[in-house]
Amino acid sequence: MTSFMSQWVSLKSGQGFTFCTLFVISPSSPSLDPGAPVGFVLGVDLLHIFPLEGATFLCPADVTDPRTFQRIRELLPGGRADVILSDMAPNATGIRGLDHDRLISLCLSLLDLAPDTLCPGGTFLCKTWAGSQSHRLQKRLTEEFQNTKTVKPEASRKESSEVYFLATQYRRGKGSVKA
Ligand SMILES: C[S@@+](CC[C@H](N)C(=O)[O-])C[C@H]1O[C@@H](n2cnc3c(N)ncnc32)[C@H](O)[C@@H]1O
Repeated sequence: MTSFMSQWVSLKSGQGFTFCTLFVISPSSPSLDPGAPVGFVLGVDLLHIFPLEGATFLCPADVTDPRTFQRIRELLPGGRADVILSDMAPNATGIRGLDHDRLISLCLSLLDLAPDTLCPGGTFLCKTWAGSQSHRLQKRLTEEFQNTKTVKPEASRKESSEVYFLATQYRRGKGSVKA
């Protein structure tokens, strides 16, 4: 997660902090006040997150809750992020198919927030566990972003089913015509 993040944001890591979903505004984003020296990072998690300099946290908060969505909109300068990045995961039951289905549902819920929170041209990165429903998420990403690929960070164990979907060049936004 940290290696992915370093491509877009500069955050101190290895401090035991946790986050599941980040909404990131890059330093050059038109959403930001031109005078602002740095980007903006908003982290959301069901669990309490220890404060981290340079980041704003919304926690405990459930990203699937409409009230959280409202708060995200209020907290993001300009109301939109350049990057939505998630390693959100439900508590694993150990039943592989069920855990997979629940994670795909979470990722789809997060993607549902994109029309109102992600800038056109923006990036969406999410963790999944490979399985039978991955194609549903992949299909949505392919429809809504210009480029989509599957990536696995070096830190992810080879034998783990964990894979990330990286989608760039968001084509949609509120008011755009659905394909
Ligand atoms: C794999 S952990 C991520 C841990 C963190 N990124 C780290 O490296 O320590 C998954 C996280 O997703 C969070 N999560 C699961 N479902 C969520 C939801 N609906 N809304 C917000 N956070 C959620 C959990 O609370 C948990 O902290």
